[in-house]
Amino acid sequence: MTWDPDRYLHFGGQRVRPALDLMSRIPLSAPGHIVDLGCGAGNVTRLLSEYWPRSSITGVDNSPEMLTRAFAEGLDVTWVEADINTWQPEIAPDLIFSNAALHWCDSHQTLLPDLIGQLGPQGVLAVQMPRNHSAPSHVCMIEAAKDGPWYEKLELVLRPGPVATPEKYYQILSTCSWKVDIWEAEYLQILDGENPVVEWTSTTALQPLLEALEDEDERAGFLQAYSDRIAEAYPVMANGKTLFPFRRIFIIAQT
Ligand SMILES: C[S@@+](CC[C@H](N)C(=O)[O-])C[C@H]1O[C@@H](n2cnc3c(N)ncnc32)[C@H](O)[C@@H]1O
Repeated sequence: MTWDPDRYLHFGGQRVRPALDLMSRIPLSAPGHIVDLGCGAGNVTRLLSEYWPRSSITGVDNSPEMLTRAFAEGLDVTWVEADINTWQPEIAPDLIFSNAALHWCDSHQTLLPDLIGQLGPQGVLAVQMPRNHSAPSHVCMIEAAKDGPWYEKLELVLRPGPVATPEKYYQILSTCSWKVDIWEAEYLQILDGENPVVEWTSTTALQPLLEALEDEDERAGFLQAYSDRIAEAYPVMANGKTLFPFRRIFIIAQT
């Protein structure tokens, strides 16, 4: 999928807060080497470098658009274009940090233990992922996809909810980590604009579906079907604000 850093960063404030919440719970005072896995546009990597100014940092992502933007941050960070699923570190990191990226990868059952295995001694894996795949923002995507002539094309890119329950992650990680900390939080995001939830999802989860529809009319038809459902599920309030509750899961596992 093609990422648009400018549009993604439009909701930068709401998107950065969970990263800070995750960072604040990492039990490391001075990690020597940090990897920001799925580093995106580098704005969260910047926060890591400010939080741990003595650490060496590598940012890994497979989007050239996001990495170009990250490089422009002018940080003392090594940027690597690689797929998380096959990436191997050159030196074992003390911290693998991944904010809002691993839900783009499948097979967490093997991916998370593999990442733990990449860490150095007393290393930490810190992960945050959205866990709102049963919320209307995502359910309406499936409904709108099924409700038109575009379904044949969209069926190919629709993914089952990629993020498991906290209990499942505990089961996966307790076999390879001596200490696991898992929690969830639901952020009540207060958004401005006409149909801001569509603006939000069209920079992330909706994007692969829009890309799958090459015919402009078909794409517009699907987008309209989705937007109508979203406008009903997340109505604009009298004060012009739209409330978008958003559940996220946080995982910290130590070696
Ligand atoms: C929602 S953005 C989050 C970016 C950043 N971590 C942040 O918090 O702002 C997800 C990022 O994960 C990257 N990504 C998704 N799947 C990936 C994969 N398989 N390998 C590498 N990067 C991936 C995308 O390119 C995108 O930059």
